[in-house]
Amino acid sequence: MNVTYYGHSAFSVQIGGKIVLFDPFITPNELARSINVDAIPADYILVTHGHQDHIADVVRIAQRTGAMVVSNYEIVEWLKKQGLNKLHPMNHGGGWNFDFGRVKYVNAIHSSSFPDGSYAGNPGGFIVTSPDGNFYYSGDTALTADMEWIGRNVELKFAALCIGDNFTMGVDDAIEAARLVHCTEILGVHYDTFPYIKIDHVEAVRKFHEAHRRLHLLAPGASHEF
Ligand code: NI
Ligand code: MN
Repeated sequence: MNVTYYGHSAFSVQIGGKIVLFDPFITPNELARSINVDAIPADYILVTHGHQDHIADVVRIAQRTGAMVVSNYEIVEWLKKQGLNKLHPMNHGGGWNFDFGRVKYVNAIHSSSFPDGSYAGNPGGFIVTSPDGNFYYSGDTALTADMEWIGRNVELKFAALCIGDNFTMGVDDAIEAARLVHCTEILGVHYDTFPYIKIDHVEAVRKFHEAHRRLHLLAPGASHEF
């Protein structure tokens, strides 16, 4: 599965001939200046929660590409009011078979509100299973024992885990999360974008290595084949 990173928690995965984009936050991101938001391809946009740093460019990209946006019920209703109509609502514990694979919306321990402060449902993460392989994206979350069952029945090719600390898991908790979901290949997300979440790359990679995991820290615009 080919993964392209767009900075912060934005990345896309090629699955079953489709491009699935997660949490696009490009235009406000100083570290993603090299990315042309109007050139990002997407067939689907999956959104974990309503915070600005995950939802900023959803409407813009969806309008240009015609991508279907998949998120929780409250976010889908909000996007409807922004003029989008290719939408798929989900809620925690539910899964749906799309043409590229199956998506399950799972728990995250965090908060979720829209940029105007209104209620955006509860935050989540996604498990994607497909003939090309399976992966887990944690969204913004604390380390939680719920992760233990994620890797119980699903063999993950990689997991995208937040590692920036302060608002989410830091490196040490992300390593524990990787253990809980039985995954060795980790895409690091939600780091460096703001002063509160700046991390030491060398130390982070070393800590994952010592835990027999590989942490991938991609530059915005870079791709990796998992
Ligand atoms: Ni958040
Ligand atoms: Mn966030």
